[in-house]
Amino acid sequence: MLNPDLNRLMPYPFEQLARLFAGATPPVDVTPIPLSIGEPQHAPPRLVLDALQSNLSLVAKYPTTLGTLELREAIATWANQRFALTSAPLDPARHIIPVNGTREAIFALVQATVDRTQGGTVVMPNPFYQIYEGAAFMAGLNPHYLPIDPATGQPDYRAVPDAVWTDCQFCFVCTPGNPSGTALDGDTLTYLIEKAQQFDFWLASDECYSEIYRGEAPIGLLQAAAEAGLSDYRKLVVFHSLSKRSNLPGLRSGFVAGDPDLMAAFLRYRTYHGCSLSLAVQRSLHGW
Ligand SMILES: Cc1ncc(COP(=O)(O)O)c(C=O)c1O
Repeated sequence: MLNPDLNRLMPYPFEQLARLFAGATPPVDVTPIPLSIGEPQHAPPRLVLDALQSNLSLVAKYPTTLGTLELREAIATWANQRFALTSAPLDPARHIIPVNGTREAIFALVQATVDRTQGGTVVMPNPFYQIYEGAAFMAGLNPHYLPIDPATGQPDYRAVPDAVWTDCQFCFVCTPGNPSGTALDGDTLTYLIEKAQQFDFWLASDECYSEIYRGEAPIGLLQAAAEAGLSDYRKLVVFHSLSKRSNLPGLRSGFVAGDPDLMAAFLRYRTYHGCSLSLAVQRSLHGW
């Protein structure tokens, strides 16, 4: 016997792409620009490589699921400054959990939060990062796709009827969006925060591209909440990753931050799920 929800998972797009590429020979006189998996093409920062090397002996120890306080303090310092969270600063003890890159956390958070006995949907933009959909299937819920408006690069969230929010247990936004690159503005984020609190669903903002922008830095979900005068980040969570912004996809390092009750529940889930960052990785990121 196997979990029947596995049959709902779509083939991963890069497996499909590899099949399409099979037997194709690229022209020899040009250098291809890979536009597939989104792997950064620049060198990782030297200071991380050096720090990793000098902390390698820490692989002799088991890390805790919550991660070191120093790492959570470094994350809080960065996020509080980057997103101007002065009115409601993230508390490293309550608001933050380091994760092994955001992919596993995006998947796991849906499993940890939704109530499969209630049914309902996971709302997401379309096109989307495929893990949102797989997480919905494996949690026994149905995805609800919001088409991205080609004119704006994001779904028209204000056009979503309340009936959709009534059925929603978990909603993903992606800002700046993959694949459009367009960031949501503060008013739209505030509108979505109000909906999440009114209809009691988890609002999750995938911000793994937040540090890749031209001009002004894009606003984040927690920043919109703080600017709206909220202090507790109730029903909200953000995902951040070093993969893209710091050319470190193989380090598998990111964090989730938000609603303290959600963080406590997610920590409990992760203790069993068994996902913790190697201490060598954690120590290499202290004090950035
Ligand atoms: C939109 C989006 N979210 C999350 C991720 C996951 O990145 P990572 O697991 O490396 O943090 C990716 C990776 O391509 C992505 O495109």
